Amino acid sequence: MNDQDDNKQIIDRIQAIRDDLGKKLLILTHHYQRKEIVALGDYQGDSFGLSQKAAEDKDAQYIVFCGVHFMAESAEILSQAHQTVQIPKTEAGCWMADMADNHVVTEAWDELTSITGPGSIMPIVYMNSDAELKAFCGLQGGTVCTSSNAPDALRWAFTQREKVLFFPDQHLGRNTGNQMGIRPDEMILWNPKKPLGGNTPDDVKKAKVILWDGYCLVHTRFQVEHVRKMREKFPQSKLVVHPECTQEVVAMADAVGSTSYIVKYVKEAPPDTTIIIGTEINLINRLALEHPDKKIFELHYSLCPNMFKINLNNLLWTLENVGKVNVIKVREDIKVDARAALDRMLDLAPQNKSLKGKDPSDKGQIPVAM
Ligand code: 13P
Ligand code: SF4
Repeated sequence: MNDQDDNKQIIDRIQAIRDDLGKKLLILTHHYQRKEIVALGDYQGDSFGLSQKAAEDKDAQYIVFCGVHFMAESAEILSQAHQTVQIPKTEAGCWMADMADNHVVTEAWDELTSITGPGSIMPIVYMNSDAELKAFCGLQGGTVCTSSNAPDALRWAFTQREKVLFFPDQHLGRNTGNQMGIRPDEMILWNPKKPLGGNTPDDVKKAKVILWDGYCLVHTRFQVEHVRKMREKFPQSKLVVHPECTQEVVAMADAVGSTSYIVKYVKEAPPDTTIIIGTEINLINRLALEHPDKKIFELHYSLCPNMFKINLNNLLWTLENVGKVNVIKVREDIKVDARAALDRMLDLAPQNKSLKGKDPSDKGQIPVAM
């Protein structure tokens, strides 16, 4: 039997379980999942959209999350008591989320507040973080944000407090700060391995945004040189990138936004447009297949090996053991505080807009870099 026949058999078995469970089962798939996994999901989305779905759904008894661990954990926090959340592979983590933990962030927080005094810093934690960090934020009156609502989160934070501690992704924080007109000298980097994060007390006093020194290896792989080469090869092309890319790459892009924004951008672009995309390769390949009327290329090959750990075999195994294996459970006390920070995020209006440029739907035009 060849691989294709094998896959067909697995897909048929998954489909039979889905039919059998009906509304009792909800399969959520992130945009970076393999195409065969996305095809079997009830809903595909970015991390904001998927957490919204998990919070809204009251019918499903079983939520199977095809994405990385922090996403499944957020779904568990937002789900109802009668629902069970499972992930097909528990080892599907996130490198960036591992760059900050409760212990080091609490240490940094204590150092920072010993300089600024209490009540002046608002913590904002990126969705790509573990539940304990979300709970820390909830306890301190802060919020979670995703790449689709980071500007809203920052704007909200500055109505409450004078400074923001943004973690773990320095690039999303910096790109959002740039877009809001915060000057580079008002944004400092906090390296947890250095005393005072590598700053002086005066730097901390002057800073508006303190950026944690975390990053995504998948998105920081994109270089200015890649943009130059692709622009040279396709002079009429448009470039859309994810805000986890560096500010140098973002500065050269026509539009910047979350994975759902990128999907929308491609969908709304006029036929024959050449679009270069700076994000994870599985999403780009799927978009190219779904939009044969447009020319879609990757800025550079970059795969998230964690997202790739979910496959047909482990999805089938999870469904054959629905409610029993790889169940995500967050400790009740952590859950209460993390939920407070996630609820704050869900109350912020989702933007799904570009950090720069206009939506491609505007006058049928592709946005021009600002
Ligand atoms: P989105 O929120 O845009 O889906 O991004 C999640 C992520 O992990 C990107 O690397
Ligand atoms: Fe984490 Fe980067 Fe993978 Fe997103 S692409 S899940 S940030 S490692």
